[in-house]
Amino acid sequence: MDGTAGDVTAYITSRDLDPAKMPAHVAIIMDGNGRWATSRGKNRLLGHTQGYHTLKQIVYESNRLGLTCITVYAFSTENWRRSGEEVGGLMALMLGAMQAEIEELIQTGIRVRVSGRLTELPADLREELQSATTRTEHLPGLIFNLAINYGGRAEVVDAVRAICKKVADGVLSEEDVTEGLIHDHLYSPDLPDPDLLIRTAGELRLSNFLLWETAYSEIYVTPVCWPDFDPDTLVQAIADFQKRTRKFGTVVEETIP
Ligand code: FPP
Repeated sequence: MDGTAGDVTAYITSRDLDPAKMPAHVAIIMDGNGRWATSRGKNRLLGHTQGYHTLKQIVYESNRLGLTCITVYAFSTENWRRSGEEVGGLMALMLGAMQAEIEELIQTGIRVRVSGRLTELPADLREELQSATTRTEHLPGLIFNLAINYGGRAEVVDAVRAICKKVADGVLSEEDVTEGLIHDHLYSPDLPDPDLLIRTAGELRLSNFLLWETAYSEIYVTPVCWPDFDPDTLVQAIADFQKRTRKFGTVVEETIP
């Protein structure tokens, strides 16, 4: 396979999925690392390390499936409240992972992107992420968007602040403020809204993830903890998505079975 459209279609079909009904953007709340580790009598950080290995598999599977984008919730604006050991461990894990994976990501044609308040991250991690973004921005493959120090409310606050400044500077007026304008001031306005939001480890909540962008996303929750999630579970989630009827607020004629 050399990554042509025909190869991608053949791969999708080999996974028993319908190439005409693939989601473009899949967002993932990678939950359950801590539970996975503590249920085995291990330190929570081991769960995050195992979660990194899962993430690697999911990134390459998403690329093989020809998805446009995946956004993964790696660290929320609320995660700073965890112990210093866990926060420091997660920062070190993300830095080490980016350093270890960047060449393979480039060779595979994957674009790295980041959504979140990056100025508050440790300088070494911020610089590594910025470098990965710059080095991969011209590549043709999957957009691998890492939500780091990300909060859905913080994202809206940042957009509103940027718009208020433009209104104060006379660049925009109050009447210019529309849904489209707010969208244009989010962290990644060029990405399509997620078609499918996957949450692992069974909790039925959004946890401040992509609050604006998931307005019409289909939600799939699996009891599987993130370290046990794998390409087959991703394919199951997409197969479930392909059975849904998306309405976007309109009426769709359906017969009752
Ligand atoms: C939630 O599980 C998971 C996180 C807060 C961190 C997710 C991070 C990774 C999967 C590693 C990311 C690595 C890279 C390279 C970006 P939890 O700890 O809240 O689990 P729990 O609810 O069972 O305690």
